[in-house]
Amino acid sequence: MKKLIAGNWKMNGSLAANDALVRELVRGLDGNAGCTVAVCVPAPYLAQVQALRAGTPLELGAQDVSEQAEGAYTGEVSAAMLKEFGVRYVIIGHSERRQYHGETDAVVADKTKAALAAGITPIVCVGETLVQRDAGRTVDIVKRQMAAVIHTNGHCISEIVVAYEPVWAIGTGKTASPDEVQQVHAVLRAQLKAATSHADRVRILYGGSMNAANAASLLAQPDIDGGLIGGASLKAPDFLQIVRAAR
Ligand code: 13P
Repeated sequence: MKKLIAGNWKMNGSLAANDALVRELVRGLDGNAGCTVAVCVPAPYLAQVQALRAGTPLELGAQDVSEQAEGAYTGEVSAAMLKEFGVRYVIIGHSERRQYHGETDAVVADKTKAALAAGITPIVCVGETLVQRDAGRTVDIVKRQMAAVIHTNGHCISEIVVAYEPVWAIGTGKTASPDEVQQVHAVLRAQLKAATSHADRVRILYGGSMNAANAASLLAQPDIDGGLIGGASLKAPDFLQIVRAAR
């Protein structure tokens, strides 16, 4: 299975900065990257990055999608709209959306369904907080988050990407150790196996302070199939080094 390295720009960027970053990424990818590489950009920049990446191996992603198809949902963006801009991946249920926008497991499951229906691959995020980890509840939490998505999407679950992002490791410089991450990924893999006979082709990414220095050891684990990169995806040399570690 080809690994997936996806950048999550979060609410960062400008027309000028995106132009420079994407051009440098495309130059660095230089033909075939040996792994799949995507950038998940703020919605207003989809058209810009769609044009910049045209004819290159860099894939385009978004950071959220509405669970609704269309209508009176001010501020929302539908999966069909994303599709029109060549979006191949969409991050769903990022902890920042769960925390600041009250996204529940049920909403995350419905958004996953909307993306799949439009032919966009959802990158479904799960992960525990520090309090939950310290209470020994990591496995319970990620399994509960995953179960909601499986329940709503049935056998289509084989078409998703999962991102395990421990909340305490996001933007903090703290990473879970490769062994700790592998243990959680193995739990998720087993849960997927119980739901689909194609669980082996579901990519399970790690996210949380992944960087040029720690990427190789994380990506060497059997069930770590790529990374969802925040801060380091805004610096082309760092992001490209992570991509090289995934080849
Ligand atoms: P950082 O890589 O900045 O810790 O962010 C991780 C993340 O939230 C990716 O979605």
